[in-house]
Amino acid sequence: MTKHAQNSIGVVGAGTMGVGIAQAAAGAGWPVVLYDIEQTLVDLAKESITKRFIRLVEKKRITQEEATDCQERISTSVSLDDLSNCDLIIEAIVEDFDIKTKVLKQVGAVAKDAIIATNTSSLSVTDLGESCGFAKRVVGMHFFNPAPIMPLVEIIRGEKSSESAVQRATLLAEAWGKIVVQVSDTPGFIVNRVARPYYLESWRIIEDGIATVDQIDKAMQSLGEFKMGPFMLTDLIGQDINVATTRSVWQRLGKPSRLAPSAKQESLVERGNFGRKSGCGAYAHDDKDNIVPAVFVESEELEISENLTNAINDFCLEACCTSGSILEKYIFARVLGGIMNEAMWATTEHVASSEDIDTAMKMGTNYPQGPLEWAEKVGIEKVHRLLSALNETVADNRFATPPFGTVSAN
Ligand SMILES: NC(=O)c1ccc[n+]([C@@H]2O[C@H](COP(=O)([O-])OP(=O)(O)OC[C@H]3O[C@@H](n4cnc5c(N)ncnc54)[C@H](O)[C@@H]3O)[C@@H](O)[C@H]2O)c1
Repeated sequence: MTKHAQNSIGVVGAGTMGVGIAQAAAGAGWPVVLYDIEQTLVDLAKESITKRFIRLVEKKRITQEEATDCQERISTSVSLDDLSNCDLIIEAIVEDFDIKTKVLKQVGAVAKDAIIATNTSSLSVTDLGESCGFAKRVVGMHFFNPAPIMPLVEIIRGEKSSESAVQRATLLAEAWGKIVVQVSDTPGFIVNRVARPYYLESWRIIEDGIATVDQIDKAMQSLGEFKMGPFMLTDLIGQDINVATTRSVWQRLGKPSRLAPSAKQESLVERGNFGRKSGCGAYAHDDKDNIVPAVFVESEELEISENLTNAINDFCLEACCTSGSILEKYIFARVLGGIMNEAMWATTEHVASSEDIDTAMKMGTNYPQGPLEWAEKVGIEKVHRLLSALNETVADNRFATPPFGTVSAN
């Protein structure tokens, strides 16, 4: 709380993420200039920051003096010219390529030497850099919501990002107390890609009529110690947001069957069942946060081959933290196997190092263990045996492992 850097950090866009990023930087001692297009928007942002600091003081996380200092470090502006002295400017405006390009160009012209970081979740950092005309200075800095609390930042290296820009963005995020992973500019980066099977494989189990949403949630929580089951989590994120991320990652990766959207989840969204925010999603939610399953499944008895049963039992013996029924073990092995496989594909495709993939999944989405270290613990041969046995049960080859089938390809 005492450190003061010389140059201000610019934050463009005072919405959910911009406000959180400004708070994170100011909380670590950096002066921040927070920009938005209208005075009312920056006023609202400042009000929301004040409320956050009041809460932190009430909870005794910081003193009143620290809260006052932090707030004073954040100035607001509706003129991009006020960003001219910043050496890092983080863009957190609407997720639209053309609008981002236009604003990034303006920002880059105002602050000619600044590093320009985009908080995009789904656009290509390389393409944004190219279309701005100063690709060397453009990097991705992907914060997670809520930015002051979530420890992870994915630093994305565009194809033409300079090494110094990548390293400077990394050092600054680390100085704000963040855990940083470096990622190549690939769809979904690490977290939004490797987490997809957690949701998708769970929806496919529903589509196959094998288990209900609460059975799946319970299996993932009890056998794997996941904090939230996939359906509770997607109801919280918003089924609509989750579907949009799936579509974007799947399309940009060339539509691999592993990541194909779930028809059942999409139809839920088409009916306006977005989850908690709309009162109904995978569960119906009342105003006291009670939930009851709202997706009907005519579940049939699980019928699996002896080979798959053995593979699941061997896998679960090492991977689970507690025992369960064969149905629970099947659910857990199928979903976690899908995640491990996606992490192996990501490693093979040089998205990031194995270590950074594990760190990102633990810090960005609260997984109890990184998928690759979990796979190592189970034993790679057992993981491959499971995936191969699962692959025999599907028509789309989605459990096929990457060509070299290894977790340490890079
Ligand atoms: N919300 C999340 O959970 C989350 C997480 C990680 C990354 N992101 C990414 O962060 C970025 C911002 O997301 P958000 O949820 O904070 O959005 P938001 O809609 O809450 O805020 C966007 C803000 O940008 C402002 N803005 C400034 N200049 C603008 C311009 N020229 N045109 C349009 N808007 C302008 C808007 O007025 C608005 O206040 C997006 O790229 C999003 O993909 C969001």
